[in-house]
Parts: sequence; C-alpha cells; structure tokens
Amino acid sequence: MKVVHAPICYANYPRTGFSGLLFVVSMSVAATVVGALQQSADQPDCITEFKLDLSDDSNIEYQSLIPNSGIPYKTPKGIFLNYDPSITTSSVPRYNVGRIRNKFPLAFKCSDGGSRSLFPSFTTSFTFQIKTFTKYNDSGDGIAFALTTDAAAPENSTGRFLGLMQQKVEDRHQQFMALEFDTFQNFEPGFDDPSASHVGIDVGNLTSLKPVKDTSDPSDPLYLYQNYTITTWLFYNSSDPAIYVWATNDTDPAEKPLTPILGVPQNLSQVFQNDTSIYAVITAASGNNSQAVILYSWNLTIIDHEDLKEPKRRPWKLLYLLIAVPFIALLALAAVRAICIWRVNHRSGTFLRDAARPVRRFTYSELLHATSWFTEEIGRGGCSVVYRGNLQDGTPLAIKKMKNAHADVTVIARELQILSGLQHRNLLSLRGWCFRPEQNFCCRSRRAEIFLIFEYMPNGTLHDHLRGAKEDSALDSARRLSIIHDVAIALEFLHSYATPTGFVAHRDVKAQNVLLTENMEAKLGDFGLARLSAHHEFLTENPAGTVGYAAPEAFRGQITEKSDVYSFGVLMIEIASGMRPSGDVRIAPHTVLADWLHSMTMRNNIMEAIDTSLNITATESERWRSVLRLALACCQPEHANRPSMRKVVNVLENPDAEILEVSD
Ligand SMILES: *[C@@H]1O[C@H](CO)[C@@H](O)[C@H](O)[C@H]1NC(C)=O
Ligand SMILES: *[C@@H]1O[C@H](CO)[C@@H](O)[C@H](O)[C@H]1NC(C)=O
Ligand SMILES: *[C@@H]1O[C@H](CO)[C@@H](O)[C@H](O)[C@H]1NC(C)=O
Ligand SMILES: *[C@@H]1O[C@H](CO)[C@@H](O)[C@H](O)[C@H]1NC(C)=O
Ligand SMILES: *[C@@H]1O[C@H](CO)[C@@H](O)[C@H](O)[C@H]1NC(C)=O
Ligand SMILES: *[C@@H]1O[C@H](CO)[C@@H](O)[C@H](O)[C@H]1NC(C)=O
Ligand SMILES: *[C@@H]1O[C@H](CO)[C@@H](O)[C@H](O)[C@H]1NC(C)=O
Ligand SMILES: *[C@@H]1O[C@H](CO)[C@@H](O)[C@H](O)[C@H]1NC(C)=O
Ligand SMILES: *[C@@H]1O[C@H](CO)[C@@H](O)[C@H](O)[C@H]1NC(C)=O
Repeated sequence: MKVVHAPICYANYPRTGFSGLLFVVSMSVAATVVGALQQSADQPDCITEFKLDLSDDSNIEYQSLIPNSGIPYKTPKGIFLNYDPSITTSSVPRYNVGRIRNKFPLAFKCSDGGSRSLFPSFTTSFTFQIKTFTKYNDSGDGIAFALTTDAAAPENSTGRFLGLMQQKVEDRHQQFMALEFDTFQNFEPGFDDPSASHVGIDVGNLTSLKPVKDTSDPSDPLYLYQNYTITTWLFYNSSDPAIYVWATNDTDPAEKPLTPILGVPQNLSQVFQNDTSIYAVITAASGNNSQAVILYSWNLTIIDHEDLKEPKRRPWKLLYLLIAVPFIALLALAAVRAICIWRVNHRSGTFLRDAARPVRRFTYSELLHATSWFTEEIGRGGCSVVYRGNLQDGTPLAIKKMKNAHADVTVIARELQILSGLQHRNLLSLRGWCFRPEQNFCCRSRRAEIFLIFEYMPNGTLHDHLRGAKEDSALDSARRLSIIHDVAIALEFLHSYATPTGFVAHRDVKAQNVLLTENMEAKLGDFGLARLSAHHEFLTENPAGTVGYAAPEAFRGQITEKSDVYSFGVLMIEIASGMRPSGDVRIAPHTVLADWLHSMTMRNNIMEAIDTSLNITATESERWRSVLRLALACCQPEHANRPSMRKVVNVLENPDAEILEVSD
C-alpha cells in the first residue's frame, strides 16, 4: 500500500508562458527596430561618387544664411551661389552665404563605421564663373570647395569667411579643408591674403597654406576679375599624402593641364581623425561687396582605396545587433517579470489579508527579531519549516515558514481562513501571519514566503512522546485517555464547524499533528491539508494523508469527514498500543493497525493490544476496552459505517454508551 503524500510545491501561475510570449514579441520588436535603424543607416551611406546633375538635383542641398534670400538658385545652365548684381536691385541682401552640399555623407570615413584611420584618395572637379562688376580688389568674396564636418553654413560666416567658419577662430567647432578662389584681400590676422585674386588651400582656418597661387596679374589665365569660366581639379593622394590642384580658363577643357598650380603636403587622415560625417560643399559668400558666382558642374570621386575595394561588413552594426537585441529583450523580459511578480505579490497579499482578517499581520522584521534570524528550527514538513521564536513580551511562538508560497497561496489562504476563524482550546491557535513578497531584481532574487505564527507548544508532539524521543513518564494511562479525549473533541468541533461552503475536514490526523501543552493537554494542529467542502460530498483531489493513518477511500482521492474518523481510530490504537501505524515490526508487513487489532478481537483477546508498559487500573481497563472497540468502529473500511465524531466523543465520555450499532 502506498500513499502519495505530495505537497504541491510548484508554481501555479503562468509565469513562463506569459513571459515567453512577451519575450518573443519584444525580440521581434527589437529586431524590427534594429533592422529599420540599420536600413536607414544603409541607404544614404557611403557614397563614393558624387555628380552635380542640373536636371536632377535630389542629391544636393541648397543652403544660405539668410532664410528665403533666394540663393542659391538653379538655372538650366548652372547654380547661382550669389546674386548677379547686374540683374538684381539694391534690396538684395548682402552679407550672405550661398552654399550647396552633397546630401548624403561621402565614404571618406563611413565605409568601416568611421574608424578608418587612412583618409582615402579622392578627386574632385568643378567649373565656375565669377562675374565682377567693380575694379580689382573691390569685389567679394570668392568661391570655395570644401570638405567640412559642418552640415550647414556656420553662423556669421559671411563675407571673407566664405560660409566656412565663424568670425572668431576660437569659436570654430567644425573641421574643414578648403580650396578657395578668393577675390578679396584681407589683411586681418588669420587671413594673410597675398592679393585680391589668389588660389589657396585652407585647413581648419582661412589662412592659405603655402604655397599659395597668386593670380592677381591680369594676364594670368586665372585672374579672378576677368569673368573667366574656370575649371579646376583637386586630387588628394592619401599615400603621398598631399593635395594637388589644377585649373584652367579653357571653357571646354579636354583634360586637366599637365602641371598643377598647387601641391600642398597635407595628411587629411590627421585633419579628420576625430570626425566621421564629412560633407562636400561649394560655397560663395558676400559682404558689403558682391559678385555673381555661378557653378556649372561639379563631381567628386573617392578613388582607389584598398578599404573601399572590399567594403567590410560593419562590425559595429553586428555588435549593435548582438548587444542591443538581447539587451532590449532582457529589459522587456525584466519589466514583464516585475509586473507579473508585482501582480502575483499583490494578489497573494490581498488574498491572505482577506482570509486572515481576524488575526494579526506580522512584519518580516518582527519575525526576524522574534526568531533571532531564524536560528532555532523545531520542525520540518514537506513544504514548511517551523522555527521557535519569542515576542518582545516573552510570549513563545512557533513560526511556520511556507516555502514557495505563491504556489500554495490558495491552500495557505484556506488554512488561514479556517485557522483564523477557529477558536477552541484543543485546536492549535493561530496568532498571526506574515507575507514576504517575491523579489526579483537584478542580483536579488527570492521566492515569496508566507509565515504562520502559532502558539508555542513546549512539550512537542505526541509522536515524539510515543516514539520515546522525549521522556514519556508523563504519558501514563490516564494521560493517554485524556489526550484521546482532547483530540476527539477538537475533531468534533472541526466537523461541526459550519462554514458557508460546508464542513472542515482535517485530512491529516496523526500523532505528529497532536501537540502537547505544558500540562500535557493535547491540541490538534497543522491544517495544511484541511479543505472546505460541502457536507458528505467527496472531494476528488490528490490523495492526501499519511501512510498508516489514511482511510481506504483517501487513496481514491475521496475525502469526507469520516476519513478523519478513520485516522482518529488509527491514532487511538496507536496511543493504546504504542505501535507504529505502519511498518511496525510486531505486525505482518502490509498490515494496517486496524486489521491487526481486528485479528486480536477475533481471538477474543482485544486487551492484549494495550501497551504492556501501561499500568492500567481496573477502572481504566474498561475504558481502554471501550476505546479499542471504538477504534475498531472508527476504522471500518466503509466510511458510511463509521461513527460521527459526536458519537465518538459521546462514547468516550460515557464508556457504557452503546456503540455496537456502528460496530460489526
Ligand atoms: C586696392 O588696390 C589699390 C591699388 O591696386 C590699392 O591702392 C588699395 O589699397 C587696395 N585696397 C584694398 C582694400 O586692398
Ligand atoms: C554673430 O554675430 C553677432 C553680431 O555680431 C553676434 O552677436 C553673435 O554672437 C555672432 N555669433 C557667433 C556664433 O559668432
Ligand atoms: C585665358 O586666359 C588668357 C590669358 O589671360 C587669355 O588670353 C585667354 O583668352 C583666356 N581664355 C579664355 C577662353 O578666355
Ligand atoms: C563681367 O560681366 C559683367 C556682367 O556681364 C560686366 O558688367 C563686366 O563688365 C564684366 N567684366 C569684365 C572684366 O568683362
Ligand atoms: C600617390 O603617391 C604615391 C607615393 O608618392 C605614388 O606612388 C602614386 O603614384 C600616387 N598616386 C597617384 C594617383 O598619383
Ligand atoms: C597620416 O596620418 C595618419 C593618421 O594619423 C597616419 O596613420 C599616417 O601614417 C600619416 N601618413 C603619413 C605619410 O605621415
Ligand atoms: C582629435 O582629438 C584629440 C583628442 O581629443 C586631440 O588631441 C586632437 O588634437 C584632435 N585632432 C584634431 C585634428 O582636431
Ligand atoms: C560698401 O560698399 C559701398 C559700395 O558698394 C561703398 O560705398 C561703401 O563704402 C562700402 N562700405 C563699407 C563699410 O565698406
Ligand atoms: C569630373 O569633371 C571633370 C571636369 O569636367 C572631368 O574631367 C572628369 O572626367 C569628371 N569626372 C567624372 C568622374 O565624371
């Protein structure tokens, strides 16, 4: 015979399923976000060629410092970066910048995420015309090609600042490299212009690097006061590294001249070492003076860099993907878990509070102090550990800690509800309870815990006394009879306790659950398996009870209060005989105590079942005989035949009362 005594110790709320779903959802959301980010980053990224197309200018951005000033403006022939003073009125805003910019970042840095240390070689070329209306040195301010980190023209960058930097060098927050065709001579520090017609390379400021090409001789093909249409080429050789410039006033040059007009050593890898977004711009600016500046064509090609021939997959994107997706998913998961835990905590707490309303709620720190940090363990069950404790006023307590409390919260709440409502001198009384919520934050994690606080029973359990674990001189014949009586009236009280839904069955009557007071009075405890149920209706739940004590129907999962009567019968035999309800060496294996007693009755020597160490007096002898016959009646296999607890108490109190009507 086998009894499954299996406390339900697993979680019963759908934590994993719900979180799992949300995990999947958040994973896909994260993946979508990352994917979108990646796509948006991919699209305009890393163009290696730029060409101004006057019929489709979608790849350029027009910029000016004065909003709605009308410049730069596009004509079928070219783009006017400044107004033509001959065709515009005096109301034309001066002190302005006209600038065009390639819309999408060029692949100077971005092909490997901006970490490339070597700035690639590139070539650019543009054709423009400066139309001057005034005499030499009185027309402003020229045109420049630049690579710059500035997405828009800086504030106050009009006039001699060519739309490239602020008026004060100290304020400069952008990096640039420029090729300027300058039509105004500035003597101020920071310019050092050789003439009002020169070509120079500027890096980070507007002082042209040496050498500078002075074109102020009117016979120079690049003289800037002659309305020439000029085509210029710039080539940066990254392995040299230097910038070379060619220029011609040929209106339709077949190819660039043989000799560059400028060759300036310059390592752009260092210039842009801290920058990732680099734009190419063509810019013209006016101050008090003005001129017409027209851009006819422009192209730029990043060339021949080994890094570009085989564009690498961006490692940072992969890294981003690898880190961000799980991170976001984990974050979502943590949030979901937190909410879930909060809800369960809240539900459990409310549930328990409502169930245990009449008794006091203890705080966890009260319990810590009462038990001196849970040092003295006095008992242990399938789902619980019992600790000894003392209230501040010295009242001793037994504190039962339920493990895995969420799982059992309904069971525990039921126990609480029953316990807090039941007051009887032979029932272990509940003094209070405590709920410690589940915690699950990064490094701290703890299951919810429920504590039930009972009065402390100094003499331990009946089981300990019967098994000789304690000095049992106190357990004489009279004491045993009174313990039987105590337990009987406790059960009678339980069974008669009316609840809206029915009766209370203890379901686990056994010697371990009979606790003894200082005066060896018995109290029935441990309602862990108590269930509320409609009268006489079978509860079809897990088989419950303890081997040896459980009634036959309990193995079929059918429990009534008559199952308690059976267990009580076994308990009476145990108390009378001192034998173990199961596995006692004195009875045949697989025989239950009741059958053993029955066989004694058959041989007409029922009194031989009595523990020989008991010195029974003659008057007690009759009472014990009555107890044993009562036990047999209680242990009948058919639950309907067993007496009620009321009847049992009646017989115990009046040994002469007739019980034969229920015995066989
Ligand atoms: C302009 O040039 C003339 C003669 O070439 C010179 O006298 C004058 O100082 C110059 N003015 C400026 C502002 O450079
Ligand atoms: C631009 O010029 C105005 C007027 O001189 C000045 O108040 C402002 O601070 C300047 N802005 C910058 C960024 O230099
Ligand atoms: C280029 O400049 C030279 C020298 O000033 C001049 O003779 C020639 O006519 C110019 N070419 C064009 C196409 O204007
Ligand atoms: C340049 O062109 C403008 C407008 O067509 C004209 O007024 C001016 O005289 C020209 N300058 C020269 C040096 O030809
Ligand atoms: C760039 O410079 C290196 C080293 O001086 C030279 O070998 C190479 O030919 C140059 N590249 C071009 C396209 O001129
Ligand atoms: C140019 O600068 C880069 C980055 O500082 C450096 O790695 C490279 O060696 C420099 N090139 C030369 C020729 O100095
Ligand atoms: C790049 O940043 C470093 C460190 O801040 C700085 O020392 C260096 O001067 C910067 N280079 C440029 C060209 O701004
Ligand atoms: C501005 O230009 C006009 C002619 O266009 C000239 O008369 C005036 O003196 C200039 N003002 C300054 C401050 O240079
Ligand atoms: C860029 O323009 C220049 C001058 O018109 C021309 O020589 C060159 O071939 C062009 N390059 C490209 C890639 O179109």
